[in-house]
Amino acid sequence: MDMVKVNSMDFGEFVDVFGNIVEKCPLIAAAVWSQRPFSGLEDLENHFFAFIDALPRSGQEGILRCHPDLAGRDLQQGTLTAESQHEQSQAGLTSLDTDDRLRLQQLNAQYRERFGFPFVLAARLSDRATVPRELARRLQCQPESELRTALGEVKKISHLRLTDLLGAHSHSAR
Ligand code: GUN
Repeated sequence: MDMVKVNSMDFGEFVDVFGNIVEKCPLIAAAVWSQRPFSGLEDLENHFFAFIDALPRSGQEGILRCHPDLAGRDLQQGTLTAESQHEQSQAGLTSLDTDDRLRLQQLNAQYRERFGFPFVLAARLSDRATVPRELARRLQCQPESELRTALGEVKKISHLRLTDLLGAHSHSAR
């Protein structure tokens, strides 16, 4: 898909295509559509990021709360979004043995208890050994810095999802 195509999309098509760039937050794509035309992938993603940055803390935490736990209930029940399923699968989280899955569920619960939102990590940049280690490390962080870290991970996930959609054509001018 190239930027000429993206810039020609009507509202409905744009939200259909980009509605899950931020997990389960189609409102962000709906808002970004108004900012078209976009000069390329970087311009487009900067509009997503600016929307996130401009939200009050409650909205930023809301975005994090739209993310499923890694190796959590949605994965078990087969109710993940296609994007999240793909990412968790790439990180090896869909084939954990029972002990590793229970360990991760325990850490996820501790994290949610401490910060009030789920642990978000760009799973595709990680693997099954790193995820629990990183989760345990981030559990020790201060809430303010952890919120910033988690939103940074949301942006990494968004970047990878946008790159999947736009790939090599992303730099074409409008
Ligand atoms: N990293 C990549 N995708 C996801 C997701 O769906 N949930 C969480 N928690 N982290 C992710």
